[in-house]
Amino acid sequence: MNYNQISELESTYNSGGVGRRPVALVRAKGARLWDSEGNEYIDCAASQGWANVGHSHPVVTAAIQAQLEIYVAGQESSYNDQRALWLRDMARIFKDSLGWNECFIHASNSGTEAIEAALKFARFSTGRTGIVATMRAFHGRTMGALSITANKKYRQPFEPLIPDVEHVPYENLEAMDKAIGDNTAAVIVELVQGEGGVFPGSTEYFQSLRELCTERGALLIVDEIQTGVGRTGRWLACEHHALSPDVITLGKSIGGGLALGVTAWNAQLGRFTSGAHGSTFGGNPLVCAASRAVIEVMAEEKLPERAETLGGWLRQELRALNVQQIREVRGLGLMIGIELRGKVTPILQQLMERGVWALPAGLNVLRLLPPLVIEQSDLEQVVTTIGEVLE
Ligand SMILES: Cc1ncc(COP(=O)(O)O)c(C=O)c1O
Repeated sequence: MNYNQISELESTYNSGGVGRRPVALVRAKGARLWDSEGNEYIDCAASQGWANVGHSHPVVTAAIQAQLEIYVAGQESSYNDQRALWLRDMARIFKDSLGWNECFIHASNSGTEAIEAALKFARFSTGRTGIVATMRAFHGRTMGALSITANKKYRQPFEPLIPDVEHVPYENLEAMDKAIGDNTAAVIVELVQGEGGVFPGSTEYFQSLRELCTERGALLIVDEIQTGVGRTGRWLACEHHALSPDVITLGKSIGGGLALGVTAWNAQLGRFTSGAHGSTFGGNPLVCAASRAVIEVMAEEKLPERAETLGGWLRQELRALNVQQIREVRGLGLMIGIELRGKVTPILQQLMERGVWALPAGLNVLRLLPPLVIEQSDLEQVVTTIGEVLE
């Protein structure tokens, strides 16, 4: 099918909830995308951050193919070998990265569902109802996750949302101190605010937040749906800050392209009682096999280290462009925001026309989230193209 046929058909039926670029992507491999007309793009979006190991990685593809022949969609109400092994692998990561000796893990099907589980667990575990979130935060679009997301554009059409939610400015401890009270079940933060504009927080802020939560009996939930799985140069961004939260959420790249959300918490907090939470597809054998392959590739190819090295180099190169349009280059690992002096949408279009597929973060930030397997030569091309477009 060509672009006109594809776009006409989709436009007839799609919900309208997500705007589309005038391109039909039909194939991807590694850090490359191809459209229906045969045009090639360097992927600097990793499909909204879910392709950290690259598109169709052979190890992930082989694991999916093998499991497809055996058992695809088994529900949590019976045990399964792939799920058992995956839970063990995840627990090892949480032990190494967060210092949790033991943990409990709930598997769902998306980032927003991982957040829903975290919110439910916080209420269940503390018997309190309040949540403190931050301004500019993005945590998802289902009703609970939307209630703690800050952007009015996403929230307003759906109000009233869940009650007892307060938003305070990011990196402002005084505001947190005032907001966390006797009824606060949890505080939730991103370690680098992604959709909000790629703003990394400081170790001092996160450590003080940890202390405040412990002192007041509120859980600290860290949303690593975008920062996790090697993106920032560590398996989990918490490692940059020696931060041990009570609850963590993962999504996007952890499923290797299949749908997986993860909510995990320190075992000291106990478990849900039977019936309190669950999911038909969450943690099915197919997605667990894919996720185990992702974990293997991350270690074999040292992708967190690669993200740190390439990310540091890329930020330097972007700063060295020294073009008037760039106000600031910031980020951590291969999660990079280029704050512009003007709107980002026309820039994205021009980059696309020159073979670079990037993302926005808010109105004036150009966001780069390439697959961590991307070649340095591809990133050199990206820097040159950004320079040309912004000149
Ligand atoms: C930090 C963060 N939390 C939650 C979500 C929601 O994830 P999903 O789109 O898989 O529901 C996102 C998605 O961009 C995100 O970046």
